[in-house]
Amino acid sequence: MTKRVAIFVSGGGSNMRALVADMVGDHAARPVVVVSNNAGAGGIAWAEAQGIATEVVDHRPYGEDRAAFEAALDAALARHAPDIICLAGFMRVLTAGFVSPWAGRMLNIHPSLLPQYRGLHTHRRAIEAGDATHGCTVHLVTPELDDGPVLGQATVPILPEDTADTLSARVLEQEHRLYPAVLRRFAAGNTQRLDL
Ligand code: GRF
Repeated sequence: MTKRVAIFVSGGGSNMRALVADMVGDHAARPVVVVSNNAGAGGIAWAEAQGIATEVVDHRPYGEDRAAFEAALDAALARHAPDIICLAGFMRVLTAGFVSPWAGRMLNIHPSLLPQYRGLHTHRRAIEAGDATHGCTVHLVTPELDDGPVLGQATVPILPEDTADTLSARVLEQEHRLYPAVLRRFAAGNTQRLDL
């Protein structure tokens, strides 16, 4: 049975595009919906242009009421009956109430070699720490932020002249290789760690 994938984005969605581009041919999964908290997300316009269903659930009307926001997300998702959720630059923290029912079926990509540098500004923090390498991680999502079993990592060198921008661009290229490669294996039932 083909696996149905929901992709969550907040911004441009370059990782989403890489995932969608790979879900063809003998891939065990297909994209069924792109979900965003942001109607203006470039990823939403792109998905619509591709003929992929979209759902926008704006978080702002819900204020601090995360449970109500997540209930609305859940209702939107239910219309598409996904088997797998891929977070791809989704910039809202999801609580245990949303995440726990998806245990083992929700993936995220994070721009660091986890467990290093959870949270934001990972590239700047790695440069400031004097690290020799940086990279990205695809992991299963647990209620802890940027935590959970690692499914794959890609490493890049940090060059002496790197700024946060040049490093993030180099890491993003690897994200576009790593995430599709991990999802392809995951959808086929392979959860062995992949290192690029
Ligand atoms: C990526 O760096 C991802 O790792 C991070 O947010 C960025 C999203 O970029 N969580 P895009 O929307 O996929 O282009």
